[in-house]
This record gives sequence, C-alpha cells and structure tokens, in this order.
Amino acid sequence: MASGSRASSGRFEPCIRSAADVIPAAPPRRYLDHPATSWPKPAPVIDGVLHALREVGAAAGRGIHADARRADAIRTAARAAAARIVGADDPQRVALVSGATLGLNVAIHGLVEPGWHVLATAADHNATLRPLQWLADRGVIEFDVVPCNAAGAVDPDDVARAWRPATRMLVFSHASNVTGTLQDAVALARIARERGGLSLLDASQTAGIVPLPHGASAPDVVVAAGHKWLQGPEGGAMLFAREGIEPRPLVQGGTGSASDDLRMPQRLVDRLEAGTPDLAALAGLSAGIGWVERQGIAALAAHGHRLASACRAALAPLPGVCLLGPGGGKGPPIVGFTVEGYDPADVATLLEQIAGVQARAGLHCAALIHRHLGTAVGGSVRLGFGPFNTPDDVRAVVAAVAAILGLPDTDSSDPFPIPTQVPPWQE
Ligand SMILES: Cc1ncc(COP(=O)(O)O)c(C=O)c1O
Repeated sequence: MASGSRASSGRFEPCIRSAADVIPAAPPRRYLDHPATSWPKPAPVIDGVLHALREVGAAAGRGIHADARRADAIRTAARAAAARIVGADDPQRVALVSGATLGLNVAIHGLVEPGWHVLATAADHNATLRPLQWLADRGVIEFDVVPCNAAGAVDPDDVARAWRPATRMLVFSHASNVTGTLQDAVALARIARERGGLSLLDASQTAGIVPLPHGASAPDVVVAAGHKWLQGPEGGAMLFAREGIEPRPLVQGGTGSASDDLRMPQRLVDRLEAGTPDLAALAGLSAGIGWVERQGIAALAAHGHRLASACRAALAPLPGVCLLGPGGGKGPPIVGFTVEGYDPADVATLLEQIAGVQARAGLHCAALIHRHLGTAVGGSVRLGFGPFNTPDDVRAVVAAVAAILGLPDTDSSDPFPIPTQVPPWQE
C-alpha cells in the first residue's frame, strides 16, 4: 500500500489522488455470451428501434392515420425479412411473436392433439422440453427423448427407430446452445414427413449464422429468435408454419381485423398475433436481419468460426481443459468447455474478474445434453463469438484460463501469430 510522504511542514502529503491509484482498473468488457443474446447491436438496429419509438410511435394494424400506416410498414418489413430467413414464399405464413419461447409454446400447444406421441431430442432446450413435459404430466401426450452422442449429435437412424405408430410430431433444435452441434435438419424432417408426422424446428441458435433449410425438404414449422445471431433486440421472433398447418392460438384478443367476430380470425398471422405489436422490437428485428444479409451469413459465420477454432486450438493443450462438442465450423461459433477441479460458475466468474470475459456457465436451460457430455453436475462454460469479437478476445480467454490454472504466461503460444484480417463491419 502506498503511503504519504512527510513534507517539510510536518504534515503528510497525500500521494493517493483517487481510488484509481490503488484499485486496479477493471479489464475492458469482452462480451462472449452471444448464444444468450447478441451485443453490441449493429448501429442500424439501434437506429431502427429509436426511429420506431421517437418518430413513429403508433400501433401497427390498428389505424389509418399516417403514423399507424408507418407502423404497419415497419411490421410488414419485419415480416418480409423474417420470411426471407425462414425461406417462406408467403410472408403471411410467418407470425411475428415476442420470443422464440412463445413461438415454440404456440407451435407445441397449438398443434398437438390428445393421445399423440411426440419425439424430442436430448440436445433440445427447455423452451421445447418443458412444454412437452407439461403436456405429458397432464396425460395429454406421451413424449420420448432421442439421445445424442458425446458430441451432441443426434443420429437420424435413432429417430427413425424411436418413431411409433402413435408418433405424430418430431421437435428438435437445429443446433445445441451448449455445444453448437448442428443437427441434420433435412434428414430429421424427412423422417417425420415419410411417416406422416409433423416436424418442428427450433432454429434459435442457427437463424442468422447458418442458412436454414428452405423448400420442400424443410421442416413444417420453424421458430427462431431474433435477438441472437440475427442481431435484433429482445422482443422479436418468428414462427413459420407451412400452408395447411394452422396452430391454435395460445393468446386470444384484438388483432385489428374482423373485430365484429368474437372468435379469433382464421388467417395465420392474425390468429397468432393478438395484442398491440412491439413496434420497436420489430423495427430492430428487421434492421438486424437486413444487416446480417448485407454482411452475409457465410462471412459472419466464417469470422465467428475463425475465432472459435483458434480458441479451441489454444485451450485444448491446457491441462485439465476439456472441450465439448465437435468444433469444426458447422453450427454457431460456440466453444463449450470445463476445467477439471473447477465449478464452471467459478471459471466464468474468474474469466470476468481476470480478463473482463463475459461467458455463461451452468446447464444453459438444456439439462439433458449434459448427461451425454459428462457434464450433468455443474454443466459447462460457454463462449460464443459474435461479429464484433476480435482475436484479442481469444487471447484474453486463453490467458485467463492459463492464469486460473496457474500456468506461466501463454504469449509464446499466441493463437493468432500472424496479423489477422479485420472484417468489413468492424472497420
Ligand atoms: C436453442 C434455443 N431455443 C430456444 C431459446 C429461447 O429463446 P428466447 O429465450 O429468446 O425465447 C433459446 C435461448 O437461449 C435457445 O438457445
């Protein structure tokens, strides 16, 4: 601790002028929690949200005055953008909902019939597993979980084997939010279709970073979050249902259409969109999708995977570090890992304290996959690399993990020994 010096007057002259003299500066924020939600949002997303709030500020679908029509235009643009992402030819088959969790609940509760047997997978999220369990607990459906392997991959043959005469629906996550493992959505949807069942794809971890299957081979119903890899704000998500698949509404109320009828409208989007739309979220969703399209999903994925692969390669040799998932650049750029002898929650806390790295730890709302990864107790640490992360973020992670393990400085094994290319959106 520094101490003051005695001046000629005999009094102490303070040499500590501020707390910054003695308290080390907090490391800069390094946000690596993109699978939870993306940050920072691209500038057009923030502009879009502010424009909706400041300049428009009216309710979409409910009026004919000038700003109600501008609000309509914002919602129409968001629907068109969401339709491009899920590959819907007709935007009127895409309902805009406030979150993937709501969309998945609408799809499950709104489609299943009593007596159905439903299949889900061990790599799924509680956003689907909990509604299915809720229905099973009340005797409405039976459901089984198809296992995954130790890398989080579901074998389509296991799904085919688990299919029973009473099975009417397959629910699955396109990519695991724990490991980033990508499932073969086309093969899985085909199994359901060939057996006369429905397929429901949770694309929350792929929309915006992996192209979604389009056309006849795509799943029947697709739900995706807008605030993760699509870069929008929380509050905007989408539910696509193929023509002829008409989920019952979970929420009934005003739609601004057919108001003289006390029953909900038949048209899909009105049927599923009761209540005043969240205009700011829809403006942000539309701007986020536009931004992703302008950069290109392939370029965004390549950037994230360059960082994720370098991170995996640098962490792999560290003693006690166990990497999860397959790596290899197919799903979202997620690096899951554990450190032997450490609670993942402690690792995440130390990562932030040492290096400002914001990671998620625990089961990540997807407990079943951990039984197959060997991480059922305590879960794992998860890093997700977004568009604005840099090689320095990887260096910071690796140095912090090395420090947690008490290893000497890892400068000699820099994961980016050669100058790296800055993606155009960071320039
Ligand atoms: C695979 C998956 N599905 C669904 C969700 C639910 O998304 P939201 O919480 O935005 O509704 C998440 C969010 O973490 C997810 O990772």
